[in-house]
Amino acid sequence: MLDKTKYGWWRSAVFYQIYPKSFQDSDGDGLGDIPGIISRLDYLEKLGVDGIWLSPVCASPQADNGYDISDYRAVWPPFGTLEDMDRLIREARRRGISIIMDLVLNHTSDEHRWFKAALKSRDDPCHDYYVWRDGEPGTPPNDMRACFGGSAWEYVPELKQYYFHQFAPRQPDLNWDNPAVRRELYDMIRFWVNRGVEGFRLDVIDSVAKEPDRKITARGPRLHEYIRELSREAFCEPGLVTVGEAWSADVEEARRWSAPDGSELSMVFQFEHICLDQAGEKWDPVPLELVKLKECVRRWQTGLHGVGWNSLFLNNHDLPRVVSRWGDDGQYRVESAKMLAAMLYGLEGTPYIYQGEELGMTNIRLPIEGYEDIETLNMYAERLERGYRPEDVLASVHARSRDNARTPMQWTDGENAGFTTGTPWFAVNPNYKEINARAALADEDSIFYFYQRLIALRKRYEVFRDGEFALLDPDDPAVFAYTRANAAQELLTVCNFTPREQPFALPKAFTGAETLICNYEGPSPSLRPFEARIYYKKR
Ligand code: GLC
Repeated sequence: MLDKTKYGWWRSAVFYQIYPKSFQDSDGDGLGDIPGIISRLDYLEKLGVDGIWLSPVCASPQADNGYDISDYRAVWPPFGTLEDMDRLIREARRRGISIIMDLVLNHTSDEHRWFKAALKSRDDPCHDYYVWRDGEPGTPPNDMRACFGGSAWEYVPELKQYYFHQFAPRQPDLNWDNPAVRRELYDMIRFWVNRGVEGFRLDVIDSVAKEPDRKITARGPRLHEYIRELSREAFCEPGLVTVGEAWSADVEEARRWSAPDGSELSMVFQFEHICLDQAGEKWDPVPLELVKLKECVRRWQTGLHGVGWNSLFLNNHDLPRVVSRWGDDGQYRVESAKMLAAMLYGLEGTPYIYQGEELGMTNIRLPIEGYEDIETLNMYAERLERGYRPEDVLASVHARSRDNARTPMQWTDGENAGFTTGTPWFAVNPNYKEINARAALADEDSIFYFYQRLIALRKRYEVFRDGEFALLDPDDPAVFAYTRANAAQELLTVCNFTPREQPFALPKAFTGAETLICNYEGPSPSLRPFEARIYYKKR
């Protein structure tokens, strides 16, 4: 058991992300809920995870599926009540699982009482909780664009002012330069810590110190000052784990964020690796070049070793399913899902599993009417307007929409994959008859048990936690091989990223090494399609 009161326990931990809307419904309304999550805790305990990162469950009009909060201290009624949250925290803890909540601190919903008050008058104390500029209709302060399309400025005629929003107009940005705003947020965080929450994922935290007049959103000049204050004022217990979402992070920046003195955060989610297979915008995918991925991983592994800490992930609620993206969701679905896991779990850092990843869940293909995600729908409309062909835009959606990750969790081969007895809020992937948790649990060769074994290995061998990384054959375009070593132990991970056999020669230093895990039965002189192996030896 990890001692979660101690700083740094999360270096030995594995987390599991739950997107509550799509995880498990308990009352037949077609939406996942907190009692549903509680009913699946045994499953997560069996997998071996130490914590759950819970995507937002707070009160929200759901313009962006809960990333638009209207009351930070209440639960969205379809998800349950505060008492349900208390029970979840308790029941999870009983199984050695911590609850990590999602903190959306960059913006609120336009239905938050602060924003409603701000709209009433320039003199209301809450007015300065948001970012306003005077102006005339039709001439926004500048040409900044919102992430979900359109101008980043929205006009309010009654006030003769524009407010700033980096995301949808219904997600007004908070003004972090106002100390009262920061104080409110710290108090709210303490509210959840006092209820037993053991950590936080901080939504778009690199964007809070914005300076729109200078067109600065990410990495504003006061960012680290704010994060240090946040850490000091709100994350007081040494055991609290904090992970910041930082699309703008590079290695140097991440070193500051995750400095081992604990002055900022435990770690950040960085996205360099996950953006390698796109040409400019994420909607324009290009094939992944393995050599680039290897170089990127090398840079992060060596760049943070001993001076920071990595988070390890290939999936989340904003990304398409990695097995469809970098693996093969047809013939080699099982092999490639396991291979990608082995590649990731051999690395230094804290792994995050996104719900269904442990089953090898895949992308979905729907007609455009089937999509819900605000980003997807806005992009679709915008590209059509710009003259793209509908079939091309739909191909982008199929490859890249965030809704690929948001299909209901596939529990059984029964109705609605066992997710709900009602009408699911979003389409269930039709492959649930084959891909579901019940089938995985009944098959000792399943992806689920492969993850379970990887998690157990990481806990058993210290070298997974602290071994120094070295990349082998950087120019090999088909095989990703690397070693990790500490004073006493050594690992070698070898992954074939292709559906073809690849030659393989065990490095001399690993002669006689033990195979800790492999996604194929029996030995083979070459690497089979998507084969992965992790070797271990004492030094
Ligand atoms: C983050 C979330 C994403 C959300 C956005 C705005 O990127 O992960 O789902 O839409 O922030 O809050």
